[in-house]
Amino acid sequence: MAEKIAFFEIEGWEEKIIRENFPKENVFISKDKVTKLCLPQTKDFEVLSVFVDSRIDRTVLDCFPNLKCLATRSTGYDHIDMDSAKKRGLKVLYVPGYGNNTVAEFTFGLILNLTRKIYQSIDQIKETGSFSLQGLRGVDIKDKTIGLIGTGRIGKEVAKIAKSFGMNVVAYDPYPDKKFAKEVGLEYLDLDKVLSWSDIVSLHCPYTKETHHLINKGNIRQFKKGAYLINTSRGSIVETEALVKALEEGILAGVGLDVLEEEGETKDELQILSLGHPKEEELKTMLRNHILMKMPNVLVTPHNAFNSQEALERILMTTLENIKSFLSRKPINIVP
Ligand code: NAI
Repeated sequence: MAEKIAFFEIEGWEEKIIRENFPKENVFISKDKVTKLCLPQTKDFEVLSVFVDSRIDRTVLDCFPNLKCLATRSTGYDHIDMDSAKKRGLKVLYVPGYGNNTVAEFTFGLILNLTRKIYQSIDQIKETGSFSLQGLRGVDIKDKTIGLIGTGRIGKEVAKIAKSFGMNVVAYDPYPDKKFAKEVGLEYLDLDKVLSWSDIVSLHCPYTKETHHLINKGNIRQFKKGAYLINTSRGSIVETEALVKALEEGILAGVGLDVLEEEGETKDELQILSLGHPKEEELKTMLRNHILMKMPNVLVTPHNAFNSQEALERILMTTLENIKSFLSRKPINIVP
């Protein structure tokens, strides 16, 4: 009997490619995500492939008794309860490095939109037809300092682009790449120094227990007054309460967020509320997200940094290879 493979959060163009790659397997394809509130009727799959809007916690894993392999079509895997997956002996495969340039280019999109008020300028003309420059003066980024938190695949691309803009680059990473630092002219510093020296801080570390609220009420005051913060990494790396405070107090001049804390919940809030008794802290964060979204110096994008056609094609092809490698008992791209 052929293995049962399920793909969730799939777009139309991907289906044909998936079916061509698995002509003999029993393939289930759905555009829906998988969460405890959104489970498929059939649950006897051996391989499950999801994207970042799915929430694979223990309750969800328990619903798939035959599951042997989870293939996430993403670099981040914080939407999967890795401890439970490990206990179940599941192989969890991911897609490292599909969009280093893709996310780095988007990061600079956010930086330039904030520093040169590009979104605000366009919005003013569209909404009012006014060509007034009132309130639209920005700042150069040449000769300014960008501080990178995490210098892995994406952080390195950001460093290279920053250099081509004539910026100084400093970084914090518990596993510094000294060779790369020498090549591009990047200086590694302690986290506190990166925060206090940088005109722009950009987050490129994974979300883990260690990076939960890495930027928090305790260290938000370390930021240079008038600095910008960019987060294309994961929402919960920043404590939302600290962010709101820093913006209200003028510590930060602006913030670009492709990711929000409690992102899934903020998107699904109606469903969450209809279930009753949501956790108080989650509700507070959802509320703060709404406050952030309304602030003129905050740009929120809907977890869109990965979303280029080229990146999506790379994600799909790597995932298909990952699943084939699992089926042939030589799994590749296992989550470290
Ligand atoms: P990577 O694994 O290549 O690099 C991560 C770097 O962070 C490593 O150098 C690691 O040493 C460092 N790091 C680990 N703990 C740290 C800490 N406590 N403080 C500072 N640095 C720390 O990952 P990659 O490919 O560069 O991706 C980074 C993150 O970007 C992913 O984990 C994911 O959450 C996010 N991402 C977001 C996307 C989006 O669409 N917004 C798309 C792709 C990735």
